[in-house]
Amino acid sequence: MIMSVVHRKGGEVGMIVSVVHQKGGVGKTTTSINLASALVLNNKRVLLVDMDPQAHSTKGLGVELEDSNPSVKDIMLKEATSLFAQYWAGDIHEVIRKSPREGLDLVPAEIRLSQTLEELYGRCSKNFRESILSKSLLPIMDYYDYVIIDCPPGLGLLAVNAIKASQFILIPSIMSKLSVDSITDLLNLLKRAKGTAFEDYRILPTLVDTRLRATNEYVIEELSIHKGKVLRTQIARNETINQAQITHQDIFAFAPGSRGAEDYAKLAKELLKLWEE
Ligand SMILES: Nc1ncnc2c1ncn2[C@@H]1O[C@H](COP(=O)(O)OP(=O)(O)O)[C@@H](O)[C@H]1O
Ligand SMILES: [Mg+2]
Repeated sequence: MIMSVVHRKGGEVGMIVSVVHQKGGVGKTTTSINLASALVLNNKRVLLVDMDPQAHSTKGLGVELEDSNPSVKDIMLKEATSLFAQYWAGDIHEVIRKSPREGLDLVPAEIRLSQTLEELYGRCSKNFRESILSKSLLPIMDYYDYVIIDCPPGLGLLAVNAIKASQFILIPSIMSKLSVDSITDLLNLLKRAKGTAFEDYRILPTLVDTRLRATNEYVIEELSIHKGKVLRTQIARNETINQAQITHQDIFAFAPGSRGAEDYAKLAKELLKLWEE
């Protein structure tokens, strides 16, 4: 086991949060990495699960995988072949890696995750293949306060696995009509996967350019149909966030005094208040 944490006290179980949006480039990975880091800075034990075959979270945290290193594809495949609960424990422990940030662990992804997906279609029933991640995470849920899942673009099997495993869904959206419009489809999928009574989701405006006043006003108006579901925190477009990504660091390591760090710290505070009250 290479996890950086020990058993939690009191038998409490952590919360699983998916960062989902079907479009690429809306800030899912940036939000996953920096929210996870901000939670660690609030003394939480956090696991980041990279569910994107493009492995942007894995690379963004500066974790390099060798061909032989296990990744999230291995727990997906192992689950599919071993239909017995006793095999679930153990596997995920082998996959978890430490990240450069003390207290933040990672389940890495790699490109072969997409092949794995194809195999799952042939091997198991719909119900089974959609709840693989959820079952895989069970044995470690008393080690972590929060598990953050960075989803790939699209609403395919990987995103559905993440959604089914989660108690809370965070939807980053850029300030564009297309991005905001597609939230409706995403919410339909959420209700299908989690039941119509599911309300534990929030929308996070990202890459907000404060100079584009007319666009911002229009988008905020469009978002107002999602009453009570839009977070107060907005993530401004900030060049240091891009630079942090290039240097494979979270924003708090790269530029702790930056606007980006300030925004993501605010996001963590707002969510912790929501989750822990
Ligand atoms: N607030 C921001 N300010 C500036 N650049 C950002 C911001 N958020 C994300 N980016 C950049 O936008 C691109 C897409 O973001 P990313 O988080 O990878 O989106 P997704 O995971 O949804 O595809 C990346 O290059 C990232 O560095
Ligand atoms: Mg991404």
